[in-house]
Amino acid sequence: MINTTEQNQQQALDHLEDVWLFGYGSLIFKVDFPILEQRPASISGWSRRFWQASHDHRGTPEKPGRVVTLIEEPGNICQGMAYRVTPDTFAHLDHREKNGYLRFFAPLSFTDAPEHVPAEALVYVAGPDNAAFLGDAPLQDIAQQIASSHGPSGANADYLLQLDDALKTMGAIDTHVAELAAQVRALL
Ligand code: BEZ
Repeated sequence: MINTTEQNQQQALDHLEDVWLFGYGSLIFKVDFPILEQRPASISGWSRRFWQASHDHRGTPEKPGRVVTLIEEPGNICQGMAYRVTPDTFAHLDHREKNGYLRFFAPLSFTDAPEHVPAEALVYVAGPDNAAFLGDAPLQDIAQQIASSHGPSGANADYLLQLDDALKTMGAIDTHVAELAAQVRALL
C-alpha cells in the first residue's frame, strides 16, 4: 500500500501558478516555507481536534503525542490562516506532514473579505481511517498525554500552547484548543 506522502504527490499541481493552502495547526505557527501572501481564513463544516497521534514530531512510537486533525461537523466554522504558495512548496509539506494526512481542495473564506467569492484551498486532513487516528477521549486524558509527550520536533505541550497563543492573537475562538491549553498549563 502506498503511503500518504506518495498519495499526496500523485495530485498534479504543476499546471497552477499558485495555490492557496489552509493551515489550522502547526502551519499557523511554524511557517518554514516561502509564501507569496497570507490571510486569515476559515473553512466551513469542519472542527479542529487533537485526535491524531504523533509518532514522529511531538511524540515517539513508544509514547505518541497528540496533534490536530479536522473532523467533519456540519455548521461549524474552523478558523485558521491561508497562505498563497507556489506548487513546489508541497514537496516539502507532503514530507513534513507525512503521518496519515491527505490533502484535498476545500472552499475557503477570507476572514478580512467574507463577501468575496470563496477561493479553493488545499487542506491536510488525517481521516478516521488512517492508522494514527486516535479519536476522542476525555479532555483530561488528552491533556495528560500532551503534557507528558515529547518528540524530535519538541514538547507536545509547546505545539498546543503555540497554537492556542496564535489563535488568540488572530482573534480566533476554538474552545477545544483553549480548554486543553488551560488544562495543560495547570499540569506543567
Ligand atoms: C495544518 O496546520 O493545517 C496542518 C495540520 C496537520 C497536518 C498538516 C497541516
